[in-house]
Amino acid sequence: MSAPVWVIGVGAEGPAGLPPAATRLIAGADQLWGGARLLADWPDHPAQKILLGSGLAAQIEALRGRGERNVVVLASGDPGFFGIAGTILRVLGAQETRIVPHVTSLQLAFARAGVPWSDAIFTSAHARPLAEVVGWARRAPKLGILTDPSHHPAAIAAALLAAGVADCRAIVAENLGLPEERLVDTRLSQLTGQAFAPLTVLLLVQDPDWRPRPVFAPRPDAAYAHRRGLITKSDVRALSLARLALSETDQVWDIGAGSGALSIEIAELAWRGRVWAVEHDPENLGYLRENVARYGAANVEIVPGRAPAALGGLPPPAAVFIGGTDGEMAGILRHICDVAQPACRIVMNMVTLEHLQQARALCGELGLASELTQVSIAQGQPIAGLTRLAPLNPVFILAAGAPCASAQDAPGACLQEPAHD
Ligand SMILES: C[S@@+](CC[C@H](N)C(=O)[O-])C[C@H]1O[C@@H](n2cnc3c(N)ncnc32)[C@H](O)[C@@H]1O
Repeated sequence: MSAPVWVIGVGAEGPAGLPPAATRLIAGADQLWGGARLLADWPDHPAQKILLGSGLAAQIEALRGRGERNVVVLASGDPGFFGIAGTILRVLGAQETRIVPHVTSLQLAFARAGVPWSDAIFTSAHARPLAEVVGWARRAPKLGILTDPSHHPAAIAAALLAAGVADCRAIVAENLGLPEERLVDTRLSQLTGQAFAPLTVLLLVQDPDWRPRPVFAPRPDAAYAHRRGLITKSDVRALSLARLALSETDQVWDIGAGSGALSIEIAELAWRGRVWAVEHDPENLGYLRENVARYGAANVEIVPGRAPAALGGLPPPAAVFIGGTDGEMAGILRHICDVAQPACRIVMNMVTLEHLQQARALCGELGLASELTQVSIAQGQPIAGLTRLAPLNPVFILAAGAPCASAQDAPGACLQEPAHD
């Protein structure tokens, strides 16, 4: 068997900052792999130099044919943190890979700024969707963010502020370890429009009175632009969201998205996932776009068109909310059953007995277990210095999904058998 490949992290000080064991391993290498900047740190090394560039995955495949050679792959910082170690481990496996980590540029940036990082989350705007960075910024008191030329600090700041993230302390660390190193300690709002060096990381530090976003708090109806009557009411939204039993990473369809109130709140719960908001009415599409922009919901994808035709080509959902069907209920439910992920939860809101009857009959036909809830809500309203109860129209919430053996295995997916009466 070939010798293991050593993946060695190199810090800001270059060769001088390596532990002696790593220096010895590099000295004994027959082949040195790395980016141009790192290889340039070993100009006189007699090993064959392999320049890593674009098409990295294919290059790494070639490591399988390394034979008896001692191979060292040089990586910057911590190779296991959004670095090359992941690709090498995928190709060679843990048996043939040895990793010597250095500190990440994010640790170094926090250290340079004199800010402890025990309560920080480290993420990457290069490797992860911006919606996920927004999600972390809503939750974490401190955030370290790897950037790239298109996801640079100004672009990230603009996206975070658009999503309502507090204007907090923001530290941009440029060219760490290089003679041109520079720390810009400012506020998030000051970053928009500013240009920084390509080698840059961004740190966010929330103010002491900052509070993470509430875990679950549907907004009042008035928070959304909508056509009167065409919005799922806040309390009904709360129950429907509970029935959807979302995971953070779910892919979700909202069919008949209307104002997008549900889509946006689903997207905030499934903040590391994605929501496809399907709507065919032009006026409602206008509200939907306005609300998605208002709340910076970067993981909501608007799908203009009529379901089920508009559903073709969407990725298989883990959960589906159905707010409207306009005579297409059978086609929509059949399509969902054809393409959904296993144990997909389907939650429908209806107001008429006929639609409810049709939905239950279809669930029976399609082998879906369903659970029916009728919601009658009355809201307190002031009247002559007193309070009266103003009732809202009753709504049916039908939650459907594949029957399963044990509620403990998949609480969201497991529903009662349909009642046959
Ligand atoms: C009651 S509203 C949904 C309200 C929405 N959940 C909200 O909170 O704003 C129903 C929506 O479904 C849309 N709709 C109905 N049938 C549809 C279909 N087959 N495809 C796409 N949209 C549909 C309607 O245009 C309408 O905007």
